Amino acid sequence: MNKISQLISLLGGTGAVAEMLKIQPSTISNWKKLNKIPSTKHTAVLELSSQLDVNIENFLPTKKLYNFKFKILLIISGGIASYKSLEIIRLLKKTDVELDVVITKSAQKFITPLLVTSLNEKKCYIDLFSVDDEAKMNHIKLARSPDIILVAPATANIMAKLANGLADDLASTILLASFSKIILAPSMNPVMWNNLATRENYTKLLDRGIEFINPDTGDMACGESGTGRLPEPKSIINYVFSYFHENRILASQLKNISILITAGPTVEEIDPVRFVSNKSSGKQGFEIASELTRRGAKVTLISGPVNIPFPNCENVIQVNTAQEMLDNVNRQLPTDILICSAAVADWKFIPKNNTNNRINTHNKIKKTDGRLLFEALKNPDILETVSKSNLRPKIVIGFSAETNNIKKNAYSKLKSKNADLIIANDVSNNKVFGEDFNKVILVDKNNYEEWKKQSKKSVAYHLANKIHNLLINYNQRDIDA
Ligand SMILES: Cc1cc2nc3c(=O)[nH]c(=O)nc-3n(C[C@H](O)[C@H](O)[C@H](O)COP(=O)(O)O)c2cc1C
Repeated sequence: MNKISQLISLLGGTGAVAEMLKIQPSTISNWKKLNKIPSTKHTAVLELSSQLDVNIENFLPTKKLYNFKFKILLIISGGIASYKSLEIIRLLKKTDVELDVVITKSAQKFITPLLVTSLNEKKCYIDLFSVDDEAKMNHIKLARSPDIILVAPATANIMAKLANGLADDLASTILLASFSKIILAPSMNPVMWNNLATRENYTKLLDRGIEFINPDTGDMACGESGTGRLPEPKSIINYVFSYFHENRILASQLKNISILITAGPTVEEIDPVRFVSNKSSGKQGFEIASELTRRGAKVTLISGPVNIPFPNCENVIQVNTAQEMLDNVNRQLPTDILICSAAVADWKFIPKNNTNNRINTHNKIKKTDGRLLFEALKNPDILETVSKSNLRPKIVIGFSAETNNIKKNAYSKLKSKNADLIIANDVSNNKVFGEDFNKVILVDKNNYEEWKKQSKKSVAYHLANKIHNLLINYNQRDIDA
């Protein structure tokens, strides 16, 4: 029996592995025959072995599995599980990762810098105000050079400091000064973990894009049991490598693809101080812009007025009215993909007595006891205009906020506007607008797909996968034609 056959049998056999990895049993048989697992499947196999708690180190040597070259800064804070970080260092030393280690003052009560130095065969950093270190590897360099900063274990204290912007030692200063991906592996007494303050810090950090390897549940070193145990070093490492691997693949998925996204509300002035608008927060469109940028796309975001920070994409254009939004969309054409997530005002309202169908931007409408009448003039439909133009992008996606007959209305919008995909949501009773969660139905000319309620970030992630597939199909059609 060759190594890969042994590995598959350890993981439950061909059928079970095929089912868990959602691939054909014949593919697994092929791996066994060739005695090789393709590198694109290493992460999935790793994750599976970690879920099943099966040690596969002898079957796929760690060095081979973890052959990505990247930089990790490991911060060890002062929890009872600090000793487990020594095993993290030992395992990382078997890989191609370049590792630096910082330990907090409290962590030094559990492990020593000397022990870390001898394991890592490198200086262990402990002091923010070290003249020697500042000259050679200052704290900003330490913060900037890694691809990933892993804090394991992360104490309640270091979570609180990061959530509140405190920088009173080397570890917390690095965390604030870094652009790197931060992954926290918290470990603490279950009461500390469930404390409202820790919960709030956790949510705050999650919202800011910090990644968490959540603690395990079980008996704790302190004698209590519950959630708060640091996961085993091997699963922590698996998580970090899977994360890095997935991001590396994703980062090139939409390379050289230009994507234009509209987001937020539009506002239609009725005089110099008043306007008509809607409740769109822009959150969903901004999450999509972030995710598609992470996938390597060149994203231009055209946004109406919002109160949230702009995502880090190629280009952001701010507009007010529907007409301005359309003009700017037109200026950005041609583009490969258009995603119209903005809630564009359908009408503009002109006071009845105004001339030329124009609002008066100089004089405020005077308060009156009589009725004030407005004429509602239809705004341009951006989705329809672009998707029926001769500069129609390869893929056109629209959003449809509905309060009833969601699927039916979304389908007729798909048809009438010549879109490839409509993402519909139920906005009745103040659902969705401004919220962090969304429940969407995807409608294309063949299918309805109802997605479970999930964060807008998660909707963006799955939508990016969908877009990637649409693009593959589009390119295939092109080849077939
Ligand atoms: C024996 C002992 C064990 C501790 N274990 C933990 C722990 O597992 N998790 C935690 O959040 N704090 C733990 N603490 C408390 C932290 O050490 C304390 O909050 C410290 O200020 C953390 O500092 P740091 O975050 O800078 O490393 C422990 C304290 C002691 C004395």
